[in-house]
Amino acid sequence: MQKYEQEHLDFVKKTAAEGTLFFKRNNEFPLAGPCKIAAYGNGVRRTIKGGTGSGEVNSRFAVNIEQGLEEAGFTLSTKYWLDAFDEIMVNNHKEFIRNIKEEAKALGLDNPFSIAFGRVEAEPEHSLKLEGDGEAAIYVLARNSGEGNDRKVEKGDVLLTDSEVRDILELNKKFSKFMLVLNVGGPVDLSPVLEVENILLLSQLGVVTGNVLADILLGKVNPSGKLTTTWTKWADYSTIGDFGDRDDVNYKEGIYVGYRYFDAANVEPFFPFGFGLGYSEFELEKESISNEGAKISVAVKVTNKGGMAGKEVVQVYVSCPTGKLDKPVKDLAGFAKTGELKPGESQVVTVTFNMADLASYDEESASYILDKGNYVVKVGNSSRSVEAYGTVVLSDLVTTVKTRNCLGTPGFTDYAFDKKNAEDAIGDVISLSPADFETVDVEHDRDYPIDSIIEGLSDEELTYLNIGAFDPNVSGMSVVGNAAFSVAGAAGETTAQCINKSIKKLVMADGPAGLRLSKEYYTDENGVHGVGGSIPESMLELFDDEQAKGIREIASKIPEGVEIKEQYATAIPIGTAIAQSFNYDLANKYGDIVGEEMERFGVQLWLAPALNIHRSILCGRNFEYYSEDPLVAGTFAAAITNGVQTHKGCGTTIKHYAANNAETNRYNNNSHVSERAMREIYLRGFGICVKNSQPKAVMTSYNLLNGTHTSEHRGLIEDILRDEYGFRGIVMTDWVIDELSSSPENRYRGARADEVVKAGGDLFMPGCQTDFERVLEGIKNGSISRKQAQINATRVYRMAEELNK
Ligand code: BGC
Repeated sequence: MQKYEQEHLDFVKKTAAEGTLFFKRNNEFPLAGPCKIAAYGNGVRRTIKGGTGSGEVNSRFAVNIEQGLEEAGFTLSTKYWLDAFDEIMVNNHKEFIRNIKEEAKALGLDNPFSIAFGRVEAEPEHSLKLEGDGEAAIYVLARNSGEGNDRKVEKGDVLLTDSEVRDILELNKKFSKFMLVLNVGGPVDLSPVLEVENILLLSQLGVVTGNVLADILLGKVNPSGKLTTTWTKWADYSTIGDFGDRDDVNYKEGIYVGYRYFDAANVEPFFPFGFGLGYSEFELEKESISNEGAKISVAVKVTNKGGMAGKEVVQVYVSCPTGKLDKPVKDLAGFAKTGELKPGESQVVTVTFNMADLASYDEESASYILDKGNYVVKVGNSSRSVEAYGTVVLSDLVTTVKTRNCLGTPGFTDYAFDKKNAEDAIGDVISLSPADFETVDVEHDRDYPIDSIIEGLSDEELTYLNIGAFDPNVSGMSVVGNAAFSVAGAAGETTAQCINKSIKKLVMADGPAGLRLSKEYYTDENGVHGVGGSIPESMLELFDDEQAKGIREIASKIPEGVEIKEQYATAIPIGTAIAQSFNYDLANKYGDIVGEEMERFGVQLWLAPALNIHRSILCGRNFEYYSEDPLVAGTFAAAITNGVQTHKGCGTTIKHYAANNAETNRYNNNSHVSERAMREIYLRGFGICVKNSQPKAVMTSYNLLNGTHTSEHRGLIEDILRDEYGFRGIVMTDWVIDELSSSPENRYRGARADEVVKAGGDLFMPGCQTDFERVLEGIKNGSISRKQAQINATRVYRMAEELNK
């Protein structure tokens, strides 16, 4: 292992517990020292370091929980159980693959990939006996999910299997020191096991997941995370909007997503947004609430009342008045995490927010407004345990931004709760009037200067710059997620085919849980090649045995005399776990780790952070994303971006822009969302990230929005992203592959390169011969304006120059 790897791992190991939290806890933990322990559950040996798909990082190794415990000095009394469970899983997996192949055959599919991608293997039922003994017991419940498929409300996924429930309850009775550990990327329904007194949300922490659990059990680190998404029983989640239809999904719940729904519907969740326990308790006391114009500051004194050093998160919510527009019961306005406080120690933290950021979008006037009335400022350590500290009284309605509607109509009116917010002024009062605010008038349809070098390009060269680099001899399908020539295992790159081949390239590699590259590679006259080929084992097993053998043989053939080089990247915690830390400095440092590795391996653009909203707990990629709340999503994406972009020549690509909140039929699915919900919930995080960190790139999503592909949507790309948010980087598509998005069963066609170019999307990715021909023809026959193609090309060219300085 090289020095940088060790340093990065050590840092993650030391800090990752900040993204973990207890749901419940008694005083049986931490343990006095390493001991004999009975460790059960599917996550002990098969620990999930992060979900599957393009976000899966190829690390040198990953420490599972079994290893983590043993390295820390524990003795496991349950090896017999882990071995027997392994055997069950091997058979379970064979059946899983067999079933997928049969299903594909029955559907008449040439190959099973489209239905297999991200499919979660159901957990088996079993009757293994619980015979392990020891001073303590843990049950590690793991769940996996990933790109290409959504989660299911079935036993073994969102629900616990009968075997899991049986074993967890039995262990809870048998051991006084028993902890249920959740190695999951999103909620599972804990209803049947809520009586367990110690429940830890460990999450998925990358390479060091097993080490971090050992440290938590021993009290070497203190969990200090808070939930960024509400956890409750499945039956309690909102059903106002729909989810999972292959063609059309209606976001009828409007702005009532996550805690905004639970608050308004008056449903008490098991564990609310913002909740989380550690080994210590903290007391919050009001110090002051003050203002500088419309900028409000809340100072809070936090005291550690427990027996162990730890950190606490202070959260500030505001209940805005209902006026012209309905409002959630409260919105998160800001938060701050303390430093490590010793028992008895106090710290004053200050949370500052702008009133303008609480504005709502009024479709009628196409502007953001703050209604007149009382804005009650509430402070606490979860969204359901808050105390009013003061009130901002606004004397009249304020317009903060004037813009134009551009997102189309969803075909319904958003759900609105009858409940009105009209609270009396409580605590200190701050009086504001419209004179305390500025109104921004958004300028649209501005001209964009074309670079002189671009003006001289031929139609062909111009076309090359508008799409990703491709090999004309390779069909689209074979380049999924691995279409780069310069860095092995990178996802794609821009062209080298113009300006006498002197043009600089942008190489892009996936994330967000680290940098996704081939672990080892060699170089020959044709370029770089990842050792072992580009097709992951999980896909290879879907081929029939002969084919798979052939592919493996080709992939393992390494020309004689070539040097094998390494490019190991660090798997950091998943997006949700990073956000659960509520610690911007930590997120920034994780970005710094990724940026350091990008610089080392010659990657200019990281295809992350991913900040889609956790609209439903069923979205298969939620683990990559941060939260149900846009402020959390946007500010964490910004913190990570700032960390990455401190490195020379490195930029982030925030994704997937936007309303990409499910994986079902992801290339062709149409999200129906109101302009208001888009702006306040689904786009807001992107706006925050752009304003706070100016990421170098944005990736549009696969889906359509109100009937138009997001990648072909001028309103999203120009009016909102560039004009309103002030984005100055490049816009690229997600990896659109014709073969995967052109099934005749779909109601909507897949995105097309020519349409993307017209909309001001700078780069169609990953690019192939057909995309090239479509764009070239459009430029030649005038259906694509040459000027637009030149503008896009200018932006790509300039970014390549900037990041290759
Ligand atoms: C994913 C993106 C990813 C891209 C490149 C797509 O399938 O949706 O998140 O960045 O592939 O690998």
